[in-house]
Amino acid sequence: MGAAEAGLDDAVLDLSGESAGEDGTDTSSPFFVSRKAAAVLKHAILRQYVVPFASKVGKYAPNGRVVYLDGYAGPGRYEDGTPGSPALILDSAASLAGFRQLDCYFIERNRRSYRSLSALVAEARDNGLAAHALQGRMEKHLDSVLAAAQGSPLFAFLDPFGLTISFEALTKQIFGARDRQGTRGRYATEVLLNFNANAVRRIGGLLTSTKENPGREATLSAMDAACGGDWWRHEFLESDDNPQAVARITKGYAQRVSKAVGAGCWTVAVRNRAHQQVAYHLVYFSRHRDGLWIFGEAASLAQVEWRRACLPPDHGDALFSLDDTFEEEEQERQAHWVKRIKSNIEDVLRERGDFTVGQCHAEVMAGVLGEARSRHVKTAIKELYKIGKTGCDGVGNVRELRVTRPR
Ligand SMILES: C[S@@+](CC[C@H](N)C(=O)[O-])C[C@H]1O[C@@H](n2cnc3c(N)ncnc32)[C@H](O)[C@@H]1O
Repeated sequence: MGAAEAGLDDAVLDLSGESAGEDGTDTSSPFFVSRKAAAVLKHAILRQYVVPFASKVGKYAPNGRVVYLDGYAGPGRYEDGTPGSPALILDSAASLAGFRQLDCYFIERNRRSYRSLSALVAEARDNGLAAHALQGRMEKHLDSVLAAAQGSPLFAFLDPFGLTISFEALTKQIFGARDRQGTRGRYATEVLLNFNANAVRRIGGLLTSTKENPGREATLSAMDAACGGDWWRHEFLESDDNPQAVARITKGYAQRVSKAVGAGCWTVAVRNRAHQQVAYHLVYFSRHRDGLWIFGEAASLAQVEWRRACLPPDHGDALFSLDDTFEEEEQERQAHWVKRIKSNIEDVLRERGDFTVGQCHAEVMAGVLGEARSRHVKTAIKELYKIGKTGCDGVGNVRELRVTRPR
């Protein structure tokens, strides 16, 4: 399935924040924002997505085994005890354990972080989970993990501080190592990676900088390697400003990878606060339409968690609870999405006639793609049914619903 076929390559879920350090964490500690607001979204996506992914693809995999690779794992937990990606994935593995084996490989270069990671992994193994902590560079361990993943579905999470994995390693080594006999079940291959906007701004700035910089050429070449060529230089120089450069380069990157590996993609902009500059994009690649649909659902749910995490702390002395206004705002958002979806559905019915939701995903979700999810589509159809604008009652699996003109 190509990116265009997936119909989702233009989907940019523009979600959150600003003032982030290289790792996407907020270095200025503003009062209203959790220090790890940008991490909240990526973790919420992982938590929302990996369980349905493994449940689905593991159904057709030998022994229900699904391989999970965290190539830049970090210590596993933050110092305050908050789970990092390894701790939360091990929780997912535990919740799947009765019917799937999530075989987890965590790679971490830094010795101190690795020590904490390996303690977490040892505890998980004592509890009967399949988990491995590997110390060293991701590049050094990648081939052996890919060999271990042969014959099983694979989900790779690649979350470095700065530049992402090289284009070559992603397209040829990871996707290239995977059996192309099919795209689902044991052949499923999915990657979620952090494409760092700060790195784009910093490295792009070197193109026009007049300052003496001995590392300039090496840094620009490293960016070429990550992007699969120097095309990004042109994009940067042609852009009106940094936000436009980040958007164009991220989109160009996602499209090039999609094309090279025959996958569809989602691009999720992650900020530390609403209306602020993007800290990084999460870019997701899947060769299967189901994965793209389920990821969209997970990203929508994760955004609710992110919006809640951005609430100012509730000190209990306010006249009204901030949570109350949060729920009200969420209701308003949802009402707006449903209204937009209803209008989209009427447009599709008028222009094309009867259709199945799964086949017109992008049209049905136009304007709210990546924000709304299945339940909002169902509500929209049910409301249209009630007022006689469709013959479909909105009951059943939403992707399979046949939306018909009124009889
Ligand atoms: C952004 S942090 C990971 C955070 C983690 N994914 C989470 O969500 O909790 C990036 C980590 O990658 C490690 N790292 C950087 N380069 C690496 C490499 N080439 N191979 C393996 N680990 C690397 C760093 O030491 C750091 O702990």
